[in-house]
Amino acid sequence: MTDSEDLVSAYADDAERDAEVSVRPKRLSDFIAQHRVRDQLDLLLQGAMRRGAPPDHILLSGPPGLGKTTLANIVAAELGTGIRVTSGPAIERSGDLAAILTSLAPGDVFFIDEIHRIAKPAEELLYSAMEDFRVDVVVGKGPGATAIPIEVEPFTLVGATTRSGLLTGPMRDRFGFVAHLDFYSPADLEILLHRSARILGVPITDEGAVEVARRSRGTPRIANRLLRRVRDFAEVRAEGVVTLETAQAALKVYDVDALGLDRLDRAVLSALIDSFRGGPVGLSTLAVAVGEQPDTVEEVCEPFLVRAGLLARTPRGRVATEAAWHHLGRTPPNGTFSSSSGPTPDLFTAES
Ligand SMILES: Nc1ncnc2c1ncn2[C@@H]1O[C@H](COP(=O)(O)OP(=O)(O)OP(=O)(O)O)[C@@H](O)[C@H]1O
Ligand SMILES: [Mg+2]
Repeated sequence: MTDSEDLVSAYADDAERDAEVSVRPKRLSDFIAQHRVRDQLDLLLQGAMRRGAPPDHILLSGPPGLGKTTLANIVAAELGTGIRVTSGPAIERSGDLAAILTSLAPGDVFFIDEIHRIAKPAEELLYSAMEDFRVDVVVGKGPGATAIPIEVEPFTLVGATTRSGLLTGPMRDRFGFVAHLDFYSPADLEILLHRSARILGVPITDEGAVEVARRSRGTPRIANRLLRRVRDFAEVRAEGVVTLETAQAALKVYDVDALGLDRLDRAVLSALIDSFRGGPVGLSTLAVAVGEQPDTVEEVCEPFLVRAGLLARTPRGRVATEAAWHHLGRTPPNGTFSSSSGPTPDLFTAES
């Protein structure tokens, strides 16, 4: 993660995923917030351990960076089992999947990330494995082909998806436990930041944590990333301590504003307000105005701007809300669209 434009993206590249390992909670008791999911998972896992059988298959859904991979690893750690990891796009042929399934040890956790991207034949193979712990391996071709059933050790499938709407009905039905992860409140992210700072050996004050937390878009991954950047700044330009002042100064250098918007997010709002008097304006026109592809504006900027109550999508086009005018320090003209829920309460609740 070198490009400052990506500093508040919820996605991670491989280098960042490596950097995340050190601060990743290993046990359920270290997993911050998400109390409902935690309680339910705790019951599920305890119950299974009492019965001495693997728990139901678990589906974890939610936006990137909220803790799905973390929870999958925690499930295996709590059960004291092994974990095998793959992802939907990595399973090209159903034979690859059969090979993994038949090599699982009893009780193993099998984690499939991005499970909504699994190919159809592999998905069908997975059905019988999940339901009956059996896979049918087809031998031969044409009319002479026969399916040989092979037993699979009892296992727990943990599926993760950022797009649960793309899962097929039969797939979803085979999970006995479905958890949806929501965005975190600033207070939760403060706790998370104190924990990460302790692990990384970075002194951070309460005010410093508050400041980083509220710019983190409700996302642990972004909070941890901003902490690493603020630490760099604190070590090079200040006494190594993350205080309110160092956090503010650092995030100014990195162009992350008080609500966690980056340069492109602000460019979109400025264009809407300055060039189109707040809108409504069509997506492609807006994209041209900021020199980006429509896809980038729609997929990278808009979800958070909408969630933050700064931008609205209306049938006639994109509109800057009253809160957006205020955020850029402008006075909205009369009759400006005001997001019904306003920026703050809406900011940390998931879009349904
Ligand atoms: N509840 C939590 N408590 C502490 N740290 C967390 C929590 N949730 C996530 N994190 C941290 O946030 C980072 C991202 O989490 P994780 O990789 O599990 O997200 P994800 O949902 O799998 O994202 P993606 O969809 O991109 O795969 C990790 O470094 C993890 O340590
Ligand atoms: Mg993940």
